[in-house]
Amino acid sequence: MAEAAQNTADPAAAFTPRVFSGIQPSGGLTLGNYLGAIKRFVEMQGGAYETIYCMVDLHAITVWQDPATLARNTRELCAGFIASGIDPEQSILFNQSQVPEHAQLAWIFNTIARMGWLNRMTQFKDKAGKNRENASVGLFAYPALMAADILVYHATHVPVGEDQKQHLELTRDIAAKFNHDYGVDFFPITEPVIEGAATRVMSLRDGSKKMSKSDPSDMSRINMTDDADAIAQKIRKARTDPEALPSEIAGLEGRAEARNLVNIYAALSDQDVEQALREVGGKQFSEFKPLLAELAVAKLAPISGEMARLMEDTAEIDRILKRGAERARSIAAPILKDTYEIVGLVGAGS
Ligand code: AMP
Ligand code: TRP
Repeated sequence: MAEAAQNTADPAAAFTPRVFSGIQPSGGLTLGNYLGAIKRFVEMQGGAYETIYCMVDLHAITVWQDPATLARNTRELCAGFIASGIDPEQSILFNQSQVPEHAQLAWIFNTIARMGWLNRMTQFKDKAGKNRENASVGLFAYPALMAADILVYHATHVPVGEDQKQHLELTRDIAAKFNHDYGVDFFPITEPVIEGAATRVMSLRDGSKKMSKSDPSDMSRINMTDDADAIAQKIRKARTDPEALPSEIAGLEGRAEARNLVNIYAALSDQDVEQALREVGGKQFSEFKPLLAELAVAKLAPISGEMARLMEDTAEIDRILKRGAERARSIAAPILKDTYEIVGLVGAGS
């Protein structure tokens, strides 16, 4: 067996420090994806961890995707990762469907996860909407595939935005139940990494809703491919209140829209919220919004420019994904083989 976990205060301690995270190619990247996920992925690269980042195309198809658009979005997401600073040599970068071990382990986990656990998932409830009978079985089973994405690498740390917390708790439950049922210490109990000033970027039109690729209003979000004029216009029109910005965090209480814009400002300028408020506290929105727009354009324009350049050579993107998938498989295949052996599937050992 590859590795063994120790039952210590840090259950992930006996495993190679390894980061896995994924993003769905179900539409263009938003500022929420960038600040909540990709920017953090870049920060974790080249440090204490081996880093594995994935375009989770098998997750995307749990709701209908036009095939040509899915393929384009997958390549564009890969361009977005690289343009944001993911180095495909330092990190392993690939699309999920090229590593069949994810789907194979997901089947095992479908037998571990309980209906009751999956029934509690708020993302399923949100995405399935009122007509739950008509949701795909894949949408329901999605969290078992997500657990497989992570655990097929024995990943110890998973950087994500706040909305994925519940799925990561389920991943820990699946690992623990597998280990318990088979009497092994085989899968690590993964640590979520939900950090930074912008773990939950909200809609620019409604401070109680998450900024999302799927919001019908394009004014609600900043897309990574928006040009400077679009970014400036969206920030100018963002909903706010009439008060000036406070100098202390407590003054943002009950002011969801103000809080959101300050969080974005802090995250884009690599500060925490206190530091950002020391800088911008006391300003009216008429003064703060142009500052924020200027900062957002300065940070995002080079990324979107680089994405457009990379998209001119999709053959190169495909080569990067194929090479990433080969590297990913070299880690995943032995772990899947060990899993099959533990479960008693004949032939796995040969
Ligand atoms: P998705 O686009 O749903 O595949 O999400 C990919 C990653 O981006 C996950 O880690 C999410 O938690 C993160 N993310 C998506 N939207 C937001 C948001 N509005 N604020 C912070 N993180 C987000
Ligand atoms: N469920 C995540 C989302 O919707 C995407 C995802 C799939 C993921 N597999 C993952 C994130 C594994 C982290 C680790 O955003």
